[in-house]
This record gives sequence, structure tokens and C-alpha cells, in this order.
Amino acid sequence: MTKEFDTEQLAKEYRDKSPQEILALALEHFDTAAISFSGAEDVVLVDMASRIRPDFKVFSLDTGRLHPETYRLFEQVRKHYKVDIDVLSPDKEAVEQLVREKGLFSFYEDGHKECCGIRKVAPLRKKLATLDAWITGQRKDQSPGTRADVPVVEKDIAFSTPDHSLIKFNPLSFWSSAQVWQYIRENDVPYNELHTKGFVSIGCEPCTRPVLPNQHEREGRWWWEEATMKECGLHAGNIKQQTG
Ligand code: ADX
Ligand code: SF4
Repeated sequence: MTKEFDTEQLAKEYRDKSPQEILALALEHFDTAAISFSGAEDVVLVDMASRIRPDFKVFSLDTGRLHPETYRLFEQVRKHYKVDIDVLSPDKEAVEQLVREKGLFSFYEDGHKECCGIRKVAPLRKKLATLDAWITGQRKDQSPGTRADVPVVEKDIAFSTPDHSLIKFNPLSFWSSAQVWQYIRENDVPYNELHTKGFVSIGCEPCTRPVLPNQHEREGRWWWEEATMKECGLHAGNIKQQTG
């Protein structure tokens, strides 16, 4: 089914459509399409999906280093939408080896790629091998350096393999943060308590901090690294698109 799905044509056709229409395209075309959920944007997608197709699927990458508030959000969303969240853990041996050899905070010394690779990207790769399509909450203005070209639908060049074609939907690509938060308020969508404490973009606890007024949200992530490096590998295709 994925082979005849013309992503380039659909990206043009759907770029001016609403997130709900883009999400409906994903959920109606792909039975296995799943929402990749961790933050505010993703709960908006969960809320929209619950109105389109009650049997929608959701997964989260539990790195083992998330804030308690984020785990509480997972639980709140599970109950509020009566949805089973597939919470994925990283490979135990790989985590233990990293921690044994480099400690629990190696990312401050030699960058976040290795830890993200083990705790996020490997479990994601395993999960995506079972899906024909996944749905993310990426937005263009989240990260001008790496996300400015994110289309509403694309072939996932980072996670497709010669035997398995994977489609990626980004229904909120053209939405601003203000639109996301307007939707959250208008629809009583659950959100992470950390947003009331100055956090905007939220990842793992040791790699996330609040931002000051008018500071870009991405500055609260991996702040000790260069702005161009601020992708953890979940959306590695963004970097290829930019340089390719
Ligand atoms: S990240 O790559 O820098 O960590 P970001 O936090 O901006 O990503 O989130 C962008 C999208 O990636 C989210 O809307 C969500 O779809 C997906 N995502 C990020 N972190 C996770 C996670 N822990 N579990 C599942 N999906 C995630
Ligand atoms: Fe590890 Fe930080 Fe990446 Fe989380 S964000 S997986 S703690 S490097």
C-alpha cells in the first residue's frame, strides 16, 4: 500500500489543509499509523485522532530519564482518552554498558548522540519496523535550523529500509506554538505541568531546562551544544534534507 502513496504530490496537496485533514489522511490510509507521543503538540494530535478514529495508536519512548511530570502526563493522557500507550524501553544491556563505561551523564562531556542513540533511536527503529506510517508533532518553527522544511507528509528516509517503506506525517508542521496552545485551551487538552514553570520544549530531565521570555524554545534543549546539532536522531531526516 505504501508504494503507491505519492508523498511529494500529497505534501503539496495537503500543505494548506488543516491538521485534522492531514491526520485523517494518515489514519484512514494506514491501519498501523501511530502517533509518536511525548509533549504538548502530540496530545493535540491524540485529541484530534480520538475524534477521527477511536482505535488510533500511540507510542512513547521512555528513555528512563524523563521528568516525573512527563510520566504523569502519559498516565493522564492514557486515562483521559482511554487509549493504550505503547511505552517503549531501551535495550537493558546497551544502557547498562553505557552507564558502566561512561557514567550517567556522559552526554555533557561527549555529546548527546550516543545516549540518544541507545535510549531513543534504537527503540524507535524497532517500533517503526512494525508500522507503515508514523505521526509526529514536529513544527517548522520549533527549530529554524533543522525543521524549517518539514513537510506535512514525507517518505521517512531515515527509517525506511530497502524492504520496508515508511511514511511520516507531520500534521502540525505549519502550525505555530500559539495555535497549538490555543487548541489546548479551547479543548481542555491535558498538558505537562512543567509548562507552568517556564519549560517549553521538553525532552529528558538532564537535557532540558526552562527558557527565558523571548528565548527560542530549542535553547532549552542540549544547551551546551551547538544549535545545528539539536536533533537527537528521531528526526534525522531533517538534517539530511537540509544539507542534501
Ligand atoms: S526531539 O527529537 O528533539 O526529542 P521534540 O521534543 O522536538 O523531538 O519532539 C518532536 C516530536 O518527536 C514530538 O512531537 C513527538 O512526535 C516525537 N517525540 C519526541 N520525543 C519523543 C518520545 N520520548 N517519545 C515519542 N515521541 C517523541
Ligand atoms: Fe540521553 Fe539526554 Fe538523549 Fe535523553 S535527551 S536520551 S538523557 S542524551
